[in-house]
Amino acid sequence: MEKILVRKSNPLKGHVKIDGAKNSALPIIAASLLGTEDIILEDVPDLADVKVILKVLEKLGSEIEYLDNETVKINSSKLNSYQTPAKLMAQMRASFLVMGPLLARLGRTETHMPGGCAIGTRPIDLHLKGFKALGAIILENTDYIGAKAEKGLIGQVIYLDFPSVGATQNIMMAATHAKGETIIENAAKEPEIVDLANFLNKMGADIKGAGTSSIRIKGVNKLYGCTHQIIPDRIEASTFMVAAAISKGDVYIDNIITSHIRPVIAKLREIGCTITEFENEDRVRVIGPDKPKGTKIKTLPYPGFPTDVQAQFMALMTICEGISKVEETVFENRFMHVDELLKMGALIVTEGKEARIAGVPSLKGANVRATDLRAGAALILAGLVAEGTTAINDIYHIDRGYNNIVGKLRNLGANIDRIED
Ligand code: EPZ
Repeated sequence: MEKILVRKSNPLKGHVKIDGAKNSALPIIAASLLGTEDIILEDVPDLADVKVILKVLEKLGSEIEYLDNETVKINSSKLNSYQTPAKLMAQMRASFLVMGPLLARLGRTETHMPGGCAIGTRPIDLHLKGFKALGAIILENTDYIGAKAEKGLIGQVIYLDFPSVGATQNIMMAATHAKGETIIENAAKEPEIVDLANFLNKMGADIKGAGTSSIRIKGVNKLYGCTHQIIPDRIEASTFMVAAAISKGDVYIDNIITSHIRPVIAKLREIGCTITEFENEDRVRVIGPDKPKGTKIKTLPYPGFPTDVQAQFMALMTICEGISKVEETVFENRFMHVDELLKMGALIVTEGKEARIAGVPSLKGANVRATDLRAGAALILAGLVAEGTTAINDIYHIDRGYNNIVGKLRNLGANIDRIED
């Protein structure tokens, strides 16, 4: 098994270029199933999860061609199946995002019930509520899930009890061919929703309001080819900003959209970071403070503080002066990194969805485990400042969402290696 070894490092310095967003690439690749001509996607991040969803599309009949290591050509004119392979669904639950496009294009979709994961049960009731509202019949048992609408879908007003990112995306994709108009109320407002809507509109869809809590989709008959550049990954960017902060470094984060990371900029400034923004909003400079001060964060749907940065921020809080607080309101079990940080000498107590962190002068290296994608990243950040060496196991979680995080951190001066155990 591979592991990552991180040793106490000097303050990180230099430039890091952020890749295309995983959580935008996945739904946009799924949406490519709706196209009947060539689709060219640029800035597709080289990640395990992206490879899985591309494999799903191939199994369904799409032709996939890598034009270079970040540009993918997809042609789904020969789509010939509506059954997503169970094995691939088990590998990555976001494969569930192909259901909406398949329902729209073929009137049928079948897959294996997507599993939960470390951070929560990850139900799909809101996705199914949307499909049902559009006129689909849902077929489900313990581990099988299907939907069919042989006579096509009919536009409806759909209220989401929670602004679910995936449900908003799946319903938006299903509604592109529905007769009439669909309105999604209490929709998610994440930048990845906007990127997906922009992509679908380039293909010939008619979607308005993405980025607000009310999205209107007018059904169209056909969707065509297009070229689209995936937006930068605001979560990868935030992870490197926290790396600069925790190591008292001075790092330029290049290829970002500043407005997508406002909550993280605000909270890092509260900790004492000096953050410089640049007028064309595509980079920030983060200087970490000598004595970071504790603060509190509460994760919320966008534009609130992103749940995907909670673990990384908690790692920073373990060495901030005073008491810090974290409230995780999006997922019910997203404190798996706490036990691992405790092994490194952090002082954290959790109660329900709240965690309280008392800053310590320093952490100590330990043998720890990545429990999920962002928790793994948090342990790397903690290892940068812990005395001695931190060995991180189960790093396949990290590969799902970070391309070459070891190389990027090493380029900033981190003392970090990836080794075969
Ligand atoms: C997306 O997951 C992201 N994944 C997650 O990123 C991210 O944490 C999450 O949005 C929230 O921002 C991708 O985009 C591939 P949700 P998703 O549906 O769509 C509840 C990462 O680290 N819910 O907004 O699954 C659910 O239980 C990953 O990159 C229902 O109750 O998130 C959760 O508590 C982790 N019923 C909350 O909504 C439903 O039908 C948020 O889930 C759907 C969701």
